[in-house]
Amino acid sequence: MKIMENYSLKSLNTFGLKVDAKYFAVVASLDEIKQAGKFADKKAVSLMVLGGGSNVLFRGDFPGLIVRNNLKGISVIDETDDFVFVKVMGGEVWDDFVSFCVGNGWGGVENLSLIPGSVGAVPIQNIGAYGVELKDNFFELEAWFWKTSEMKIFSKNECEFEYRSSIFKKKLKGDVIITSVTFRLNKKPKFKTDYGAIKNELKNINNGKISVNNVRNAIINIRRSKLPDPADLGNAGSFFKNPVVSLVKLSELKTEYPEIVSYQQVDGNYKLAAGWLIDKCGWKGKRVGDSGVHTEQALVLVNYGNATGNEILNLAKEIQKSVFEKFGVILEKEVNVV
Ligand code: EPU
Repeated sequence: MKIMENYSLKSLNTFGLKVDAKYFAVVASLDEIKQAGKFADKKAVSLMVLGGGSNVLFRGDFPGLIVRNNLKGISVIDETDDFVFVKVMGGEVWDDFVSFCVGNGWGGVENLSLIPGSVGAVPIQNIGAYGVELKDNFFELEAWFWKTSEMKIFSKNECEFEYRSSIFKKKLKGDVIITSVTFRLNKKPKFKTDYGAIKNELKNINNGKISVNNVRNAIINIRRSKLPDPADLGNAGSFFKNPVVSLVKLSELKTEYPEIVSYQQVDGNYKLAAGWLIDKCGWKGKRVGDSGVHTEQALVLVNYGNATGNEILNLAKEIQKSVFEKFGVILEKEVNVV
């Protein structure tokens, strides 16, 4: 395994930030993972795993070892009349895996089409879109602990999945590399098309006939119309989480803003659409230097070319400040700031 020095991460983070890693290695086997761990120990530097680099904001050069997960492979490990259990290695591209499932007619992940990133990264923040979260079809994962040099299998409960979070973003942050994820997919797909936009889009595809392939295509069309492609415009998807407030707080807000967008949660609280709050503060489409707020979706911050991580972070702080001043609501970052 080759360790590169002062390696540019520009093409490896979807914000397109021009930062370097002091050391950089690509791991494609457990043996290489072990070597990378030993190298970081020997140099006494921190180690960070990078998947697709689609949920990270670098404030500057990374002074330690960046490990790129390149473990590849997809295999069916078990099957019943209704389900298929598919094990995917952490270095696979998430959307290639979704496309593979859809190609086989297996249901479960089609609503998560086109989300950038690698398979090893998706459980960390329990990716979600259009009414489906990763945890809904998750079975188990394998993770290698850097410090103790051991592999552990995590069941769904042990992952402590939450809205855009898991144990790997909290208690075990930075402790592991996720080597594989096993999904339980449906051979008799049950579709989730409650999002109005999906139903509308499906009408344009094959006269609304529902299939995993048609739902995937509908999702792809919706995402392309709203979210910028990182290949054209640097971004990391939603920059903030949708905040959750009590019914009392929602009622207060509703008296002044009857049109506020909210969704009831199982615990009786309400999730607010952060994009709406930011939009209402007048940020949509605003540009500060080369950092900006996307013109079609105010929840997405973008890099027009030469923005630095700190410039994007300053813009984020301004947005958080104005949302708090106007609505009394705290916006929490979804993106991992390094
Ligand atoms: N809205 C506005 N103005 C905006 C943006 C949104 O008024 O500039 C309103 C919309 O009209 C809509 C509501 O806010 O009524 C919600 O917007 P949208 O459906 O686009 O979804 P979101 O809540 O902003 C979440 C996820 C996305 C995911 C979509 C679809 C989070 C933080 N984001 O966005 O995930 O694709 O729902 O399910 O939960 C990501 O995590 O990176 C991501 C893109």
